[in-house]
Amino acid sequence: MNVLRFADLCAQGRVAGQRVFIRADLNVPQDPLGAITEDTRIRASLPCIRMALEAGAAVMVTSHLGRPTEGTLTPVDSLAPVAQRLSELLGRPVPLLANWTHGVAIKPGELVLLENCRVNVGEKKNSEALARQMASLCDIFVHDAFGTAHRAEASTYGIAQYAAVACAGPLLAAEMDAITLALANPRRPLVAIVAGSKVSTKLTILQSLADKVDQLIVGGGIANTFMLAAGLKIGKSLAEPDLLPQARAVMAAMSARGASVPIPSDVVTAKTFAADAPATIKAATEVDDDDLILDIGPQTAALLAAQLKAAGTIVWNGPVGVFEFAAFEQGTRAIAQAIAASSAFSIAGGGDTLAAIAKYGIESHIGYISTGGGAFLEVLEGKTLPALDILSRRAAA
Ligand code: 3PG
Repeated sequence: MNVLRFADLCAQGRVAGQRVFIRADLNVPQDPLGAITEDTRIRASLPCIRMALEAGAAVMVTSHLGRPTEGTLTPVDSLAPVAQRLSELLGRPVPLLANWTHGVAIKPGELVLLENCRVNVGEKKNSEALARQMASLCDIFVHDAFGTAHRAEASTYGIAQYAAVACAGPLLAAEMDAITLALANPRRPLVAIVAGSKVSTKLTILQSLADKVDQLIVGGGIANTFMLAAGLKIGKSLAEPDLLPQARAVMAAMSARGASVPIPSDVVTAKTFAADAPATIKAATEVDDDDLILDIGPQTAALLAAQLKAAGTIVWNGPVGVFEFAAFEQGTRAIAQAIAASSAFSIAGGGDTLAAIAKYGIESHIGYISTGGGAFLEVLEGKTLPALDILSRRAAA
């Protein structure tokens, strides 16, 4: 997609002395006391901020945090912990400004964090008045919030319509480049792992990937529905029997072009969903009526691991078993280690996937880890993200 890139504007010397408004995604998890528990998104936003400062801009950064009620800034919604973490990472004070929509006094070389943009009235509904007000604060609008690029809100979409210049920041550009590389022109075989509890929430992703990938590895409740579709019994495992026709259509579309959805040959079962429930490994044809399938079995894991090691490109979204429980984590561990050992270009995204990557310590072996949750899934679905759509229209105008 053709969009103006902030890095190019900097290289062309078009940023010095300009007021730059960066929309970042600093929406990080916090504990009940507000302490940040995981700061990947903050660290991923630093290159854009540094780029703007080094180019000599007056830099404003904003983000949403959580889903606050518009019109009131309560202490839990405040970006104060983010300002603190940003200032530690940048090694300079990062002042935090509330009530900023009517004007921000800032000079080149300065940096200010603008309070939670989702407390501004009209943000969610992409109010034109609010978007124009924000656009008037800056000379250059930089969208660097990949994690929020699937939302058409005033600070992600409207401002890009009205700002004098609107461009993609380095994180947004890197995310799109990585996903495009993985899906549009992949080194083959292209293997996707799509796992999760429900086919219904990921059906469009499965359908979109069915046209592209050589192997579509399904996991979790999604795999149970595919096992049912393949004629296997799944006991009382989580599944969506009403989506069997769709699951069969995905399998048929893939086999018609020589691709496949590998169905587990063995599974790990329990009688109850609990960390201490005794685990039993059994053939996929031996599942009892009162069994719950909570992981893939070792034979299936070994087969999938071999396929992943031989892959050219891997897209990973979702653990294949209940990896939070030690007795049911072996499948996900084997998949994670196989991806880490593979020479394939790998791209991973989604909250549970990132938790599995962290648990097995394979961060440095993944080609690209997306900061997007919903945004990553929407790109896999083949959707054009609204934030990118407006940037490309601006570039074409
Ligand atoms: C996320 O955490 O996925 C993004 O920050 C978007 O947040 P939202 O789902 O509240 O829009």
